[in-house]
Amino acid sequence: MNNNQANGLTYDNIGFQLEEGRPPPYTPPQGIYPPLPQGTPSYVAVTPKTINTHHTVIPGTPHNTGQKKGIKKCHWKRILCASLCVLLILAVVGLLLWYFLYYQCLLGKWCDGVRDCSHGEDESRCFRLHGTNFMLQSYSSESHTWMPVCAENWDNNYGSAVCEQIGYKRQDYVSYTQTSAGSLASKGYMKLKPGSNHGSHIHSQLTYSQSCSSRAVKLHCIECGVSSAAPSTRIVGGTEAVSGAWPWQVSLQIHGQHICGGSIISPYWILSAAHCFQAYSNPGMWMVYAGDLSLLQMSFGPGKTVNKIINHEKFDTKNNDNDIALLKLNTPLTFTRTVKPVCLPNIGVDLSAGHQAWITGWGALRSSGPSPDRLNQAQVTIYSRETCNRPQVLNGEITKTMICAGKLQGGVDSCQGDSGGPLVVKEGDVWWLAGDTSWGIGCAFRNKPGVYGNVTYFIEWIYDQMQNE
Ligand code: ARG
Repeated sequence: MNNNQANGLTYDNIGFQLEEGRPPPYTPPQGIYPPLPQGTPSYVAVTPKTINTHHTVIPGTPHNTGQKKGIKKCHWKRILCASLCVLLILAVVGLLLWYFLYYQCLLGKWCDGVRDCSHGEDESRCFRLHGTNFMLQSYSSESHTWMPVCAENWDNNYGSAVCEQIGYKRQDYVSYTQTSAGSLASKGYMKLKPGSNHGSHIHSQLTYSQSCSSRAVKLHCIECGVSSAAPSTRIVGGTEAVSGAWPWQVSLQIHGQHICGGSIISPYWILSAAHCFQAYSNPGMWMVYAGDLSLLQMSFGPGKTVNKIINHEKFDTKNNDNDIALLKLNTPLTFTRTVKPVCLPNIGVDLSAGHQAWITGWGALRSSGPSPDRLNQAQVTIYSRETCNRPQVLNGEITKTMICAGKLQGGVDSCQGDSGGPLVVKEGDVWWLAGDTSWGIGCAFRNKPGVYGNVTYFIEWIYDQMQNE
């Protein structure tokens, strides 16, 4: 989706955009400080004596009665003054807190090796993978742009350390190779400084360079998106999947009952939909089954227990905005021919409107119909947000965290029980996770395509969770 892709880029790292347009110098917001009494220096009100000297005697008012009133007045002034002081102190403390926790984080340079934000978010997204060729990019705090990393002096130790920073485990690491950066190197490269060693922080060992005597680093943080069988060659016109075609597909179950689908993204992580866990939020209830087409057969095999369910904190039950969740397993999956991860979309991978995609799951075969025992698959088209939001289609309900896909003529769709499962697109020889099954109006109705969580939109959120666990 074109606009979707553009979104992907804009959400890419909001912090970096601030570099270009720093916030204006701080001016205290109006109304933080309580107004001081006009024309009276604040210290004047402190002692009753001074008040008296400044007391204006209004003609016709007996001066004696003023004595008692004066004391009362002075009492009130004291209270007022004390509360003003407390307010002032609170305001100053608040300001200081804001400065240290937030403002400094906004002003601080991203990826300069200095941790400015309380959670380190200014230093946690300094590497990313670009395009279908997995080219490594590093953020340059000097030129405020992403640049390819030059392969000069690079080795697998650097490679696995970078993958770890992105959010993968060292054990997942495959290798690094080289790729041509093409026009993405028009502004230059980030290059290892001479004499760099593996010991210290990698990002700070990179420096800007106009040229690169070798090519750019292509990084395989995990072997992903490789299916063991072509989707539909063996079952002509059928919808049942063949073994190994969708090795990332899992069944999420409670008490032996299939509830939702999910996708393997690493040995420890399953990506699914947040709405699956609203009623059952306890990880101890869930089991994850992988590697088989038959639900029945899988339920006899060993499932994986869940350690943690991370629902997107902005998931909105009313409109299904941000319908994404991550499940961390207690023990890692072992990858086999039928158990493998799908690729998370790299920046710049085009999964936009018009692409053919596949959906898979054990969901109902028609609206409120029966569910199959064997995994089903269907091919769908990804539509632009504009098409999805047409009045006769989904009438403006598709937010930027969603994509819609299906067949506008009807007849092909995901359905109840497919939720959380994958919407995948093949690009450049690997399968990318474009969406997680979220919601729909009935199933497979004309002009009612299915709605999926927009995984490209969530990519930073996903890596943030993987980094922090
Ligand atoms: N919410 C459903 C579930 O829990 C998924 C519905 C998808 N519907 C559709 N028409 N594509 O399984």
